[in-house]
Amino acid sequence: MLLRVALSVLPLIGTAFAQGGQYIDDELGISFFGYKEPAHGVTYGFVFPPLEDNTDEFVGEIIAPIEAKWAGVSPFGSMLHSLLLVAWPNDNRIVRSVRYTTTYAQPTAMSGPVLTDLHTIVNATHWKWVYRCQNCVTWSTESGPKSIPISEFGVPAWAYSSVGVNDPTDPQSTFNEHTDFGFFGLDYSLAHVSAAQYVLWANGGTGGGTPTQPPTTTAPTATPTVSAIPYDYIVVGTGAGGLVVADRLSEAGKKVLVLERGGPSLGSAGGTYQPAWLQGTSLTKFDVPGLFETMFQDSNPFWWCKDVNVFAGCILGGGTAINGALYWYPPDSDFSVANGWPKSWANHHPYTAKLKARLPATDHPSTDGKRYLMQVADVTAALLNKQNYANITINDVPDWKDHVYGYSAFSFIDGKRAGPIATYYQTAIKRPNLTYKQYTTVLNVVRDGGKILGVRTNDTSLGPDGVIPLTPKGRVVLAAGAYSTPRILFRSGIGPTDMINIVKNDPAAGPALPPESQWINLPVGDNVSDNPSINLVFTHPSVDAYDNWAQVWTAPRPSDAAQYIKDQSGIFAHASPRLNFWRAMGGRDGKTRWLQGTARPGAASVTTSYPYNVSNIMTITTYLSTGITSRGRIGIDAALTARPLVEPWFTDPVDKEVLIQGIKDLLVNVKDVPGLTLITPDNTTTIDDYVNSYPTGGLNSNHWVGSCSIGAKGSAVVDEWTKVYGTDNLFIIDASIIPTIPMGNPHGTIMAMAEQGVAKVLALSGGP
Ligand SMILES: Cc1cc2nc3c(=O)[nH]c(=O)nc-3n(C[C@H](O)[C@H](O)[C@H](O)COP(=O)(O)OP(=O)(O)OC[C@H]3O[C@@H](n4cnc5c(N)ncnc54)[C@H](O)[C@@H]3O)c2cc1C
Ligand SMILES: *[C@@H]1O[C@H](CO)[C@@H](O)[C@H](O)[C@H]1NC(C)=O
Ligand SMILES: *[C@@H]1O[C@H](CO)[C@@H](O)[C@H](O)[C@H]1NC(C)=O
Ligand SMILES: *[C@@H]1O[C@H](CO)[C@@H](O)[C@H](O)[C@H]1NC(C)=O
Ligand SMILES: *[C@@H]1O[C@H](CO)[C@@H](O)[C@H](O)[C@H]1NC(C)=O
Ligand SMILES: *[C@@H]1O[C@H](CO)[C@@H](O)[C@H](O)[C@H]1NC(C)=O
Ligand SMILES: *[C@@H]1O[C@H](CO)[C@@H](O)[C@H](O)[C@H]1NC(C)=O
Ligand SMILES: *[C@@H]1O[C@H](CO)[C@@H](O)[C@H](O)[C@H]1NC(C)=O
Repeated sequence: MLLRVALSVLPLIGTAFAQGGQYIDDELGISFFGYKEPAHGVTYGFVFPPLEDNTDEFVGEIIAPIEAKWAGVSPFGSMLHSLLLVAWPNDNRIVRSVRYTTTYAQPTAMSGPVLTDLHTIVNATHWKWVYRCQNCVTWSTESGPKSIPISEFGVPAWAYSSVGVNDPTDPQSTFNEHTDFGFFGLDYSLAHVSAAQYVLWANGGTGGGTPTQPPTTTAPTATPTVSAIPYDYIVVGTGAGGLVVADRLSEAGKKVLVLERGGPSLGSAGGTYQPAWLQGTSLTKFDVPGLFETMFQDSNPFWWCKDVNVFAGCILGGGTAINGALYWYPPDSDFSVANGWPKSWANHHPYTAKLKARLPATDHPSTDGKRYLMQVADVTAALLNKQNYANITINDVPDWKDHVYGYSAFSFIDGKRAGPIATYYQTAIKRPNLTYKQYTTVLNVVRDGGKILGVRTNDTSLGPDGVIPLTPKGRVVLAAGAYSTPRILFRSGIGPTDMINIVKNDPAAGPALPPESQWINLPVGDNVSDNPSINLVFTHPSVDAYDNWAQVWTAPRPSDAAQYIKDQSGIFAHASPRLNFWRAMGGRDGKTRWLQGTARPGAASVTTSYPYNVSNIMTITTYLSTGITSRGRIGIDAALTARPLVEPWFTDPVDKEVLIQGIKDLLVNVKDVPGLTLITPDNTTTIDDYVNSYPTGGLNSNHWVGSCSIGAKGSAVVDEWTKVYGTDNLFIIDASIIPTIPMGNPHGTIMAMAEQGVAKVLALSGGP
């Protein structure tokens, strides 16, 4: 196979490359633009007619030592979807072909291009092939036309083999993967000559080649290098933040590389993990809303980040591939100055509008428009009706969050999980100037003081030491989530000294740190928050607990499964929540805090000494949201596992008092709803005791924010442009920059934030 490791990256020039330039073939007097790669001594050259003539051809050559059993070049710079020229000597003749492939398999004959041999030489020490390639600058691919970038910098790729092809007489012979390959930078805009000169050479003529620029000496390197492709923007992570960023940057015409450590999730994005009952469909565990609760009960939960000790999704979509998908348009308070945002962020409406246009919320996700398994909503509404709550469509009035309830709203489309994966990702991935690399972990950014030069990944086939460079004005956007973004920063020498010292002591990560004089001290990991949440479990005779979701993977109710497979309608089109509510509460510190409730069939655990009917259980989770004053700290341990260092729940006792009061208020009318019984805590445990003895890990809502807060220099990690203080070109757009906890489950707010954040990054001068 040719250029196997070059993968599908797109070329653009960067400082990290050995650079080609003009040279004159002294045997022919033709001035080529190309490169003699030092490892094997093979020269690759090109010369084009005038740009304005808009012809679709060039003259090229390969000069190789006889040890080269075959050699090839991709003027575009990638193996997939690219014009590939391959040649080898046979019996004093050159055998050559144009090849093409859409997979990492043997490239096969490419139709369209027309090759003409102009000069061929095979002698004792070398072989040489000079050719004309017509219909060769632009070709069509599955995703539209592709061209050699003849008016700008390019990064051609070369391939070399010391092993002969299987049948050297056959131009279409199969051959093994190259034994070496690499890239070089080439300014194609200079690689043009006059029409008269070109026509002479293209018809076999020689002479007349004159230097049009000072000859460039290629910097020879002692060892063959794997030179990576540089990008305008490298986006790290594909969660709620990263996918919005990737889409908008590529839409703006930037060359974007998106790196994701996990693999596919939704079926539409290549995922395949599904229960037996979905076999024959393209629906996966991640697609089907009704399988949400099974995320927590699986023998091989490959989607969790194994090196983060709270739940975090390490898969395409991040948290949005595995979450409950409760989806709220942000109220103004989510971006208010009072909640820690710079003033320039307060008008979120244009960005929230962009989000709504791409991903409208639904509170009736089933494709038939009906709602299913709604007993829990009815019972909870009956309770709240006693307390003067208003029944509203929550996302119609995002700012009304006091004494309101409504049906749970989701980021589902057509009865399936959608979120940013079925929307932003789908448009981004189709753009030729965006490259997506999955199963690639970013370890750290590579920097020279405040200037970020690229990222270091765990994949050394992508570049020397795994490093992928930026173009000269390029930028990195970290979107690895509230835990993993801080870890990347620590590993890059950015953050509190105690965290960087942990990295320094790590045998693998330590050596990649910049010198201590370049460490950037920022409060990364400080001031994090997450909603403290408490579950209340009830029974009501009307409630169908749906077997507590325990059967949905292996033995779903047949009619529900059949209905869902048929047209994505029915119970499986909902995640477990059925109703949500909010209220505002005063505290003795004079501050207002909001309480959110989420009601669903089933329960994570029940603790009571009384008998109860397990078929009738339901849970109301009470969360404290906007206004909480408790903060914690996250960081890494000696194994570099990301974890809470100071748990963020109830560090301020007023938060706990307010939540206890909210629970008591909610329960006042339980006795007024016939049949409703609180079973956890039951009547042998007071609410105070229940909350006071609640296991702290159980308070976790997985809504972490604030580990890289936006705000003022000195107290925050990123500025109002989302740029990391002390750096020139490092940005963060994920949950970590949100300074205080949003009103609702956060992925809607994070995506609206990302719309605004990426607009600010694009607007900030100095970028590519
Ligand atoms: C179990 C659970 C349930 C939830 N339920 C809801 C809900 O119902 N509604 C709601 O709004 N929110 C919910 N959330 C929260 C929500 O999903 C997150 O707040 C949101 O996904 C965070 O977005 P993010 O972009 O900051 O990061 P993430 O979504 O976590 O994305 C980070 C991405 O970066 C990748 N990554 C990490 N490190 C690296 C690296 N070093 N190199 C390359 N890639 C990397 C990850 O694989 C991931 O794709 C839930 C979360 C969990 C865990
Ligand atoms: C063999 O061919 C190469 C490439 O054309 C040339 O540089 C070299 O001088 C030739 N050697 C001989 C002995 O002719
Ligand atoms: C990138 O893609 C966008 C949208 O498809 C297109 O308008 C733009 O010209 C492309 N830019 C480059 C440099 O390829
Ligand atoms: C809430 O309002 C909706 C829409 O008007 C209505 O269909 C539903 O029955 C109401 N629910 C309750 C519990 O009153
Ligand atoms: C990089 O990390 C990802 C995620 O852990 C893994 O799937 C992949 O195999 C790793 N790549 C290499 C080359 O080790
Ligand atoms: C438990 O609830 C189910 C479903 O409502 C009902 O069919 C069953 O009779 C109940 N069992 C008892 C013992 O009440
Ligand atoms: C407590 O609840 C149980 C079960 O619901 C009930 O039998 C009992 O009478 C209750 N006790 C008090 C003191 O209310
Ligand atoms: C963290 O919180 C403290 C006090 O609560 C505050 O002084 C500081 O500015 C905050 N830092 C950040 C990064 O928000």
